[in-house]
Amino acid sequence: MSNRKLEGQVALVTGASSGIGEGVALALGEAGATVVVNYVTKPEVAQTVVDRIVAMGSKAIAIQADVSKEDQVQAMFLKTIQEFGTIDILVNNAGIQKDAKFEDMTLDQWNAVLNVNLTGMFLCSREAIREFLRRGLVPERSVACGKIICMSSVHEIIPWAGHVNYATSKGGVKLFMQSLAQEYGNRKIRVNSIAPGAIQTPINRAAWETPEALESLMTLIPYNRIGKPEDIGKLAVFLASDDSDYITGTSIVIDGGMTVFEGFATGG
Ligand code: BGC
Repeated sequence: MSNRKLEGQVALVTGASSGIGEGVALALGEAGATVVVNYVTKPEVAQTVVDRIVAMGSKAIAIQADVSKEDQVQAMFLKTIQEFGTIDILVNNAGIQKDAKFEDMTLDQWNAVLNVNLTGMFLCSREAIREFLRRGLVPERSVACGKIICMSSVHEIIPWAGHVNYATSKGGVKLFMQSLAQEYGNRKIRVNSIAPGAIQTPINRAAWETPEALESLMTLIPYNRIGKPEDIGKLAVFLASDDSDYITGTSIVIDGGMTVFEGFATGG
Protein backbone atom coordinates (compact mmCIF):
# COMPACT_ATOMS: atom_id res chain seq x y z
CA MET A 1 0.00 0.00 0.00
CA SER A 2 1.47 3.33 -1.01
CA ASN A 3 0.72 5.08 2.27
CA ARG A 4 2.67 2.41 4.17
CA LYS A 5 5.99 3.56 2.83
CA LEU A 6 7.88 2.55 5.99
CA GLU A 7 6.62 -1.06 5.95
CA GLY A 8 9.30 -3.46 7.17
CA GLN A 9 11.36 -0.78 8.94
CA VAL A 10 11.90 -0.47 12.67
CA ALA A 11 11.71 2.99 14.25
CA LEU A 12 12.59 4.01 17.79
CA VAL A 13 11.07 7.28 19.02
CA THR A 14 12.35 8.70 22.29
CA GLY A 15 9.91 10.51 24.56
CA ALA A 16 7.05 9.00 22.60
CA SER A 17 4.36 8.82 25.25
CA SER A 18 3.19 12.42 24.85
CA GLY A 19 3.38 15.56 22.77
CA ILE A 20 5.41 15.67 19.56
CA GLY A 21 6.92 12.22 20.24
CA GLU A 22 3.48 10.67 20.44
CA GLY A 23 2.45 12.37 17.18
CA VAL A 24 5.59 11.12 15.46
CA ALA A 25 5.23 7.55 16.78
CA LEU A 26 1.63 7.38 15.56
CA ALA A 27 2.52 8.77 12.12
CA LEU A 28 5.40 6.33 11.68
CA GLY A 29 3.14 3.47 12.75
CA GLU A 30 0.47 4.60 10.30
CA ALA A 31 3.15 4.59 7.58
CA GLY A 32 3.79 0.91 8.35
CA ALA A 33 6.86 1.10 10.57
CA THR A 34 7.31 -1.11 13.61
CA VAL A 35 7.61 1.40 16.45
CA VAL A 36 9.43 1.34 19.76
CA VAL A 37 7.68 3.82 22.04
CA ASN A 38 10.28 5.02 24.52
CA TYR A 39 9.08 6.62 27.76
CA VAL A 40 10.48 7.48 31.21
CA THR A 41 7.43 7.56 33.46
CA LYS A 42 3.79 6.48 33.04
CA PRO A 43 3.95 3.06 31.33
CA GLU A 44 0.16 3.04 31.04
CA VAL A 45 0.25 6.16 28.86
CA ALA A 46 2.98 4.70 26.64
CA GLN A 47 0.86 1.57 26.32
CA THR A 48 -2.04 3.58 24.90
CA VAL A 49 0.28 4.83 22.13
CA VAL A 50 1.36 1.23 21.49
CA ASP A 51 -2.28 0.12 21.35
CA ARG A 52 -3.16 2.81 18.82
CA ILE A 53 -0.26 1.79 16.57
CA VAL A 54 -1.21 -1.88 16.80
CA ALA A 55 -4.79 -0.93 15.89
CA MET A 56 -3.39 0.60 12.67
CA GLY A 57 -1.93 -2.79 11.75
CA SER A 58 1.70 -2.13 12.73
CA LYS A 59 3.82 -3.64 15.48
CA ALA A 60 4.82 -1.62 18.55
CA ILE A 61 6.25 -2.04 22.02
CA ALA A 62 6.94 0.39 24.85
CA ILE A 63 10.41 0.48 26.41
CA GLN A 64 11.31 2.50 29.48
CA ALA A 65 14.65 4.32 29.47
CA ASP A 66 16.01 7.66 30.61
CA VAL A 67 17.88 8.77 27.47
CA SER A 68 20.49 10.58 29.54
CA LYS A 69 21.65 7.31 31.17
CA GLU A 70 24.12 5.24 29.15
CA ASP A 71 23.19 1.86 30.65
CA GLN A 72 19.46 2.44 30.14
CA VAL A 73 19.95 3.55 26.53
CA GLN A 74 22.12 0.51 25.77
CA ALA A 75 19.57 -1.81 27.36
CA MET A 76 16.80 -0.21 25.27
CA PHE A 77 18.67 -0.75 21.99
CA LEU A 78 19.54 -4.32 22.98
CA LYS A 79 15.89 -5.05 23.69
CA THR A 80 14.81 -3.42 20.41
CA ILE A 81 17.27 -5.51 18.39
CA GLN A 82 16.38 -8.70 20.27
CA GLU A 83 12.71 -8.07 19.63
CA PHE A 84 12.76 -6.79 16.03
CA GLY A 85 16.19 -7.74 14.63
CA THR A 86 17.51 -4.26 13.93
CA ILE A 87 16.66 -0.57 13.86
CA ASP A 88 16.30 1.55 10.70
CA ILE A 89 15.02 4.90 12.01
CA LEU A 90 15.87 6.77 15.20
CA VAL A 91 13.85 9.82 16.21
CA ASN A 92 15.73 11.69 18.94
CA ASN A 93 12.66 13.43 20.30
CA ALA A 94 12.95 13.38 24.11
CA GLY A 95 13.35 16.89 25.41
CA ILE A 96 12.59 18.98 28.47
CA GLN A 97 12.46 22.60 29.59
CA LYS A 98 13.52 23.85 33.02
CA ASP A 99 12.94 27.56 32.65
CA ALA A 100 14.47 30.16 34.96
CA LYS A 101 15.85 33.66 34.91
CA PHE A 102 19.53 33.20 34.19
CA GLU A 103 20.69 34.67 37.47
CA ASP A 104 18.47 32.23 39.34
CA MET A 105 19.15 29.15 37.21
CA THR A 106 20.49 26.27 39.27
CA LEU A 107 23.16 23.88 38.10
CA ASP A 108 20.55 21.12 38.35
CA GLN A 109 18.25 22.98 35.93
CA TRP A 110 21.13 23.55 33.53
CA ASN A 111 22.37 19.95 33.71
CA ALA A 112 18.92 18.36 33.47
CA VAL A 113 18.18 20.12 30.18
CA LEU A 114 21.60 19.52 28.63
CA ASN A 115 21.60 15.89 29.78
CA VAL A 116 18.26 15.00 28.22
CA ASN A 117 18.23 17.29 25.17
CA LEU A 118 21.83 16.85 24.06
CA THR A 119 23.57 13.97 25.85
CA GLY A 120 20.45 11.87 25.24
CA MET A 121 20.86 12.46 21.50
CA PHE A 122 24.52 11.47 21.71
CA LEU A 123 23.82 8.22 23.56
CA CYS A 124 20.89 7.15 21.36
CA SER A 125 22.54 8.15 18.07
CA ARG A 126 25.73 6.30 18.94
CA GLU A 127 23.82 3.06 19.56
CA ALA A 128 21.78 3.54 16.37
CA ILE A 129 24.86 4.23 14.23
CA ARG A 130 26.64 1.18 15.66
CA GLU A 131 23.66 -0.95 14.62
CA PHE A 132 23.35 0.68 11.16
CA LEU A 133 27.05 -0.02 10.51
CA ARG A 134 26.81 -3.61 11.82
CA ARG A 135 23.76 -4.40 9.69
CA GLY A 136 24.71 -2.54 6.51
CA LEU A 137 22.43 -1.57 3.68
CA VAL A 138 19.28 -3.61 3.05
CA PRO A 139 18.07 -2.28 -0.33
CA GLU A 140 14.65 -3.98 -0.15
CA ARG A 141 13.87 -1.88 2.94
CA SER A 142 15.46 1.49 2.16
CA VAL A 143 18.08 2.97 -0.13
CA ALA A 144 19.74 4.43 3.00
CA CYS A 145 21.53 2.39 5.64
CA GLY A 146 19.79 4.29 8.42
CA LYS A 147 18.01 7.52 9.23
CA ILE A 148 18.33 9.73 12.30
CA ILE A 149 15.91 12.59 12.95
CA CYS A 150 16.71 15.03 15.76
CA MET A 151 13.91 17.07 17.29
CA SER A 152 15.34 20.55 17.48
CA SER A 153 13.35 23.78 17.76
CA VAL A 154 13.02 27.25 16.29
CA HIS A 155 15.25 28.04 19.28
CA GLU A 156 18.23 26.70 17.38
CA ILE A 157 17.75 30.02 15.51
CA ILE A 158 15.78 32.33 17.83
CA PRO A 159 17.53 33.28 21.08
CA TRP A 160 15.28 32.74 24.10
CA ALA A 161 15.65 34.85 27.23
CA GLY A 162 14.60 33.02 30.37
CA HIS A 163 15.34 29.70 28.65
CA VAL A 164 19.11 29.88 28.20
CA ASN A 165 19.65 26.20 29.03
CA TYR A 166 17.02 25.11 26.48
CA ALA A 167 18.20 27.41 23.67
CA THR A 168 21.79 26.33 24.30
CA SER A 169 20.77 22.69 23.98
CA LYS A 170 18.96 23.31 20.69
CA GLY A 171 21.86 25.32 19.28
CA GLY A 172 23.98 22.29 20.16
CA VAL A 173 21.57 19.95 18.37
CA LYS A 174 22.16 21.86 15.13
CA LEU A 175 25.90 21.21 14.96
CA PHE A 176 25.52 17.75 16.48
CA MET A 177 23.19 16.81 13.62
CA GLN A 178 25.30 18.44 10.92
CA SER A 179 28.56 16.93 12.16
CA LEU A 180 27.01 13.46 12.30
CA ALA A 181 25.63 13.90 8.79
CA GLN A 182 29.11 14.86 7.63
CA GLU A 183 30.80 11.94 9.41
CA TYR A 184 28.43 9.22 8.17
CA GLY A 185 27.11 10.45 4.81
CA ASN A 186 29.49 8.18 2.95
CA ARG A 187 28.04 5.19 4.84
CA LYS A 188 24.59 6.13 3.52
CA ILE A 189 23.31 7.23 6.91
CA ARG A 190 21.11 10.33 6.74
CA VAL A 191 20.86 12.70 9.71
CA ASN A 192 18.45 15.64 9.79
CA SER A 193 16.59 17.81 12.27
CA ILE A 194 13.06 19.04 12.58
CA ALA A 195 12.81 22.53 14.10
CA PRO A 196 9.23 23.02 15.33
CA GLY A 197 7.76 26.30 16.47
CA ALA A 198 4.90 26.38 18.96
CA ILE A 199 3.20 22.98 18.89
CA GLN A 200 0.28 22.34 21.25
CA THR A 201 1.76 19.90 23.78
CA PRO A 202 2.26 19.70 27.54
CA ILE A 203 5.73 21.36 27.36
CA ASN A 204 4.25 24.77 26.46
CA ARG A 205 0.80 24.50 28.07
CA ALA A 206 1.13 27.96 29.62
CA ALA A 207 1.45 29.46 26.12
CA TRP A 208 -1.92 28.14 24.88
CA GLU A 209 -4.19 27.14 27.74
CA THR A 210 -5.94 30.49 28.24
CA PRO A 211 -7.45 32.65 25.47
CA GLU A 212 -5.16 35.52 26.52
CA ALA A 213 -2.04 33.37 26.29
CA LEU A 214 -3.08 32.03 22.90
CA GLU A 215 -3.79 35.51 21.61
CA SER A 216 -0.35 36.66 22.69
CA LEU A 217 1.22 33.57 21.08
CA MET A 218 -0.52 34.39 17.79
CA THR A 219 1.40 37.68 17.62
CA LEU A 220 4.46 35.50 16.99
CA ILE A 221 2.91 33.24 14.32
CA PRO A 222 2.05 34.75 10.91
CA TYR A 223 0.01 31.68 9.93
CA ASN A 224 -2.17 32.32 13.01
CA ARG A 225 -2.58 28.87 14.40
CA ILE A 226 -0.74 26.75 16.91
CA GLY A 227 0.93 23.65 15.47
CA LYS A 228 -0.30 20.12 16.17
CA PRO A 229 1.78 16.98 16.80
CA GLU A 230 0.32 15.59 13.53
CA ASP A 231 2.02 18.41 11.61
CA ILE A 232 5.35 17.16 12.90
CA GLY A 233 4.40 13.49 12.37
CA LYS A 234 3.92 14.04 8.64
CA LEU A 235 7.32 15.68 8.30
CA ALA A 236 8.97 12.89 10.30
CA VAL A 237 7.49 10.27 7.93
CA PHE A 238 8.89 12.20 4.96
CA LEU A 239 12.35 12.49 6.53
CA ALA A 240 12.36 8.80 7.50
CA SER A 241 11.32 7.63 4.04
CA ASP A 242 13.22 7.30 0.78
CA ASP A 243 11.19 10.27 -0.54
CA SER A 244 13.75 12.47 1.20
CA ASP A 245 16.79 10.40 0.17
CA TYR A 246 18.80 13.40 -1.02
CA ILE A 247 18.23 15.32 2.23
CA THR A 248 20.90 15.06 4.90
CA GLY A 249 22.53 17.55 7.28
CA THR A 250 19.51 19.83 7.16
CA SER A 251 17.20 21.28 9.74
CA ILE A 252 13.66 21.76 8.48
CA VAL A 253 11.75 24.54 10.22
CA ILE A 254 8.03 23.87 10.73
CA ASP A 255 6.63 26.83 12.59
CA GLY A 256 3.73 28.62 10.85
CA GLY A 257 6.22 31.35 10.02
CA MET A 258 7.56 32.09 13.52
CA THR A 259 11.08 32.46 12.12
CA VAL A 260 10.03 35.17 9.66
CA PHE A 261 9.75 37.48 12.70
CA GLU A 262 6.20 38.79 12.49
CA GLY A 263 7.12 41.85 14.60
CA PHE A 264 8.73 43.26 11.47
CA ALA A 265 5.48 43.09 9.46
CA THR A 266 4.63 46.62 10.56
CA GLY A 267 7.89 47.82 12.03
CA GLY A 268 11.56 48.19 11.30
C1 BGC B 1 9.44 25.08 23.04
C2 BGC B 1 8.05 25.59 23.29
C3 BGC B 1 7.82 26.89 22.56
C4 BGC B 1 8.25 26.83 21.11
C5 BGC B 1 8.19 28.17 20.40
C6 BGC B 1 9.67 25.02 21.56
O1 BGC B 1 10.94 24.49 21.27
O2 BGC B 1 9.61 23.81 23.64
O3 BGC B 1 7.85 25.76 24.68
O4 BGC B 1 6.44 27.21 22.61
O5 BGC B 1 9.58 26.33 21.04
O6 BGC B 1 8.75 29.20 21.16
